[in-house]
Amino acid sequence: MIERLAGLLKDRFGRAPRLYIRTYGCQQNVADSQRIRGLMHLYGCEDASDENDADVIVFNTCAVREHAEDRVFGNIGNLKNLKRQRPEAIVAIGGCMVQQQTVADTIRASYPYVDVVFNTNRISALPEQILDLIEKGKRQIVPVCDRYTLNEDAPVLRDGESLRAFLPIMYGCDNFCTYCIVPYVRGRERSRTPEAIEKEFRECVAQGYKDIMLLGQNVNSYGKGLEEDIDFPKLLRRLNAVEGDFVIRFMTSHPKNATKELFDAIADCEKVERHIHLPVQCGSDRVLKAMNRHYTVEEYLGLLDYARSVVPDLYVTSDIIVGFPGETLEEYEETVDLIRRAGFYAIFSFIYSRRPGTPAAEMPDDTPHGVKADRLNALNEVQRLVTAEIEERQIGHRYRGLCIGSAGEGKSVVRLSSNGEVTADGTWPVNEFCTVEVTDYKNRRLFGRIIENA
Ligand code: 5AD
Ligand code: SF4
Repeated sequence: MIERLAGLLKDRFGRAPRLYIRTYGCQQNVADSQRIRGLMHLYGCEDASDENDADVIVFNTCAVREHAEDRVFGNIGNLKNLKRQRPEAIVAIGGCMVQQQTVADTIRASYPYVDVVFNTNRISALPEQILDLIEKGKRQIVPVCDRYTLNEDAPVLRDGESLRAFLPIMYGCDNFCTYCIVPYVRGRERSRTPEAIEKEFRECVAQGYKDIMLLGQNVNSYGKGLEEDIDFPKLLRRLNAVEGDFVIRFMTSHPKNATKELFDAIADCEKVERHIHLPVQCGSDRVLKAMNRHYTVEEYLGLLDYARSVVPDLYVTSDIIVGFPGETLEEYEETVDLIRRAGFYAIFSFIYSRRPGTPAAEMPDDTPHGVKADRLNALNEVQRLVTAEIEERQIGHRYRGLCIGSAGEGKSVVRLSSNGEVTADGTWPVNEFCTVEVTDYKNRRLFGRIIENA
């Protein structure tokens, strides 16, 4: 099959086929794209610099908010011209967005120049679809959600440019938060074996990656369904024991599964960074219940108290949704209050976006968009002050960090354990750890200097 398709592709384009992958959305998609790339390289593909230079064009899409989908449709529309000029080019679309039947139907009906719709829950089927497209001359639009896999059979090929390695440990989500499309498009939770994870982890270390991020929609329910006696805290401990000079990060954690054992493991593991992304979503118990989040505001804050008691230098970031259907002004203000109390280092805040097919899409929502936008801005303003306070407190302190690039003549950018970045005086080899002293906080940025001989 490999030789057959590789031969067909080469004949079709008269050269080693050039591959361009456009990735939307979250880190999970970035990781999936690295597997699509690894797989297509097995079939002789080489990387193209952009769509116009590409023979095989892959879009890996996102469905989490409507805005993301609009962008994808816009960009698919732009391929029309390209396909008119080069009909032999192959356009393949995968990712969360096309895992919705209505979207797949729209593409089938209205975007005839899309040749393949594939399933990122089963990446290894893509080459076969391309083969059928070429041999049978028929568009390949697969049925949505036909089979979920761990994608172990698609070899990963990281880009080598980014200094952070994304390593998926589990796929899917069983939580069904009422606003969220993810459980419908990514299917049920399934975990990779610790052996497969450790093997890939060791490969990352051997390749020189020093910042390795474990990925999953809900990393702390890792291990569900595996025969072995393993859970996320145990996995952290196991990877922390791998020899080498690197740091471990992970995303995303659900508060309802964030156990004391998790924070104890962070405290004990010196290679695990002092940062946790722990989305709270909102600060009203009524809305949290309507979101199906399974915790209260006080429980969440209690979790942070425990976390900080065992990891005092922990930096917590969060996601917030403003304008969930039926959210009142008072409930919104409870969220603002939570922002003041939680001491988040940063938040990613979003206006609620209606996702057809989710329970929240059926809930009455009478707050005008403009009002929601104003609330979002006001909330972000409060967070900016909290962030500023935290960063100002860093002035005068020394931290270990990874040099991730240059910031012009004699200056470096250093990423700290907090996941924040410092623009530091001094040069240092990129992808090497250094010590930096924070000296200033200006225009929402940290400044400092690299300490030689630390
Ligand atoms: N509308 C707005 N934000 C959403 N998120 C997920 N679904 C929606 C939606 N329908 C946000 C949540 C989640 C983050 C990845 O995206 O805050 O944590
Ligand atoms: Fe969506 Fe909730 Fe699952 Fe996160 S935990 S992916 S917000 S359903």
